[in-house]
Amino acid sequence: MLIKPPGFVFQFKRLQSSYALSKCINEIFKDPPFKSQTTVNGWVKGVRVQKRIAFIDISDGTSFQNLMCVVPPDQAKELRTGVSVQVTGEIKESNGKSQSIELKTTDPDSVKVLGPVLDSYPLQKKFHSPQFLRTIPHLRWKTQFLSSILRFRSHVEMKLMEFFTQEQFTRTHPPLITSSDCEGAGELFKIESASRADIENKFFGKDSYLTVSTQLHLEVLCMALSRVWTLTPCFRAEESDTHRHLSEFWMLEAEIAFISDVRQLTTFCERMIKHVVNSLHQDLEGQGSNLINSRRDQEFVHKMIERWDQLLNGKWKTITYTEAIDILSAESSKGNISFQFKPAWGEPLQSEHEKWLTGEYFKSPVFVLNYPKESKPFYMTRNPDGKTVACFDLLVPDVGEIIGGSMREHNIDLLLDEIKQRNMKTDDIEWYLSLRSSGSVSHGGFGMGFERLLCYLGCVENIRDVIPFPRSSRDCVC
Ligand code: 4AD
Ligand code: MG
Repeated sequence: MLIKPPGFVFQFKRLQSSYALSKCINEIFKDPPFKSQTTVNGWVKGVRVQKRIAFIDISDGTSFQNLMCVVPPDQAKELRTGVSVQVTGEIKESNGKSQSIELKTTDPDSVKVLGPVLDSYPLQKKFHSPQFLRTIPHLRWKTQFLSSILRFRSHVEMKLMEFFTQEQFTRTHPPLITSSDCEGAGELFKIESASRADIENKFFGKDSYLTVSTQLHLEVLCMALSRVWTLTPCFRAEESDTHRHLSEFWMLEAEIAFISDVRQLTTFCERMIKHVVNSLHQDLEGQGSNLINSRRDQEFVHKMIERWDQLLNGKWKTITYTEAIDILSAESSKGNISFQFKPAWGEPLQSEHEKWLTGEYFKSPVFVLNYPKESKPFYMTRNPDGKTVACFDLLVPDVGEIIGGSMREHNIDLLLDEIKQRNMKTDDIEWYLSLRSSGSVSHGGFGMGFERLLCYLGCVENIRDVIPFPRSSRDCVC
């Protein structure tokens, strides 16, 4: 039995009351503390001063809703958008159309300015374009829409964590510093201690890089724990300056032992995404309305709601790479679509092909299976046809590829044969190869671009607007 030290309960209670956090605006909206003096902290979003009364809209970033404070006009004189304030008053039901409650105060000292803003403060009550906001990276998260994106991001991560926990997975923490190029595409950032310019004396005793994917290390953990996942930053030195590429992005990766078919992976991925979408659709935690209500453009709101509905109730398509090429070729020969890159077997699916297949042709997410062996990394299991590998990409409208995964070759002879055919060096992956002679089992896994998932579910066009501080070639401002 656990023995409590004397006075334990008493001390704990005292600590709770004197050091508790004050109620944030989201809590106030959820459970309004009517008829008691309430203090609210936040930033002014708008001020309207009339003859006998003034209205201050305050946000503290915990909700898409601003709390309207009704104060004597002289209390609002110094206020303007961006100023940080503390307001004390009484929470009342509001007669206004756009809010359920308001904070009303009559006390002359009820509004305290915590921090003023300069005249040059760039954010105003009006709409600011995403392009403009990207020029003020230290301030843009104060806006209604972008702050809703960060709350959404946090919610999606929590839901994914919930899903993996329910599915008996262990959340693991593979390293970000590595000496191997998992994907073999050479898009590595090399790292070295800044104080050691001397190349002969490398910090790790050999070349080391920021990881492009934690998969190889995750496979090690999978061979001990059967079901593992992680969500980490990954780094790619690609020059692609597109609205879906970043040099530093977050990837969710999972590895699953004792599976034998790539369709087990696709079924699992579909359930994983539906788990997140279901929570937005049901809106029990208010995260669906968080996104919907922070969007000014109704066109996007409709698109988002339709997308969630279709993801939950529509049928997701599954085709092979060969079928994808056949469809693309047939439709472009019929003149139904013209592509910049001609689709051809053996060539990669271009972003224009992916977007057309999902957005125009199927109008749904599409799992594309069994790509040509040469277009994929060394670790994928070969299919019996000798030409393709047991892999898949999940393609979605607007964004294109959001997940890439495969069965992993677990037979040491076949894996070594593949490595030999590719003239790959094995010095840095001996540990990985030796897994295949240490109780090897059939397994597979996948990696999902976290920002790409957020862009898709939140109908956000540019990946730079779903990550706090985007990094891409020649762009590392703050
Ligand atoms: O398809 P990729 O390259 O797959 C892998 O790295 C595997 N090792 C993952 C695994 O099986 N464990 O990358 C996986 C996903 C892509 O589908 C894409 O969503 C995202 O990572 N991604 C990027 N997201 C943003 N910016 C980039 N530069 C990205 N590169 C890949
Ligand atoms: Mg890929």
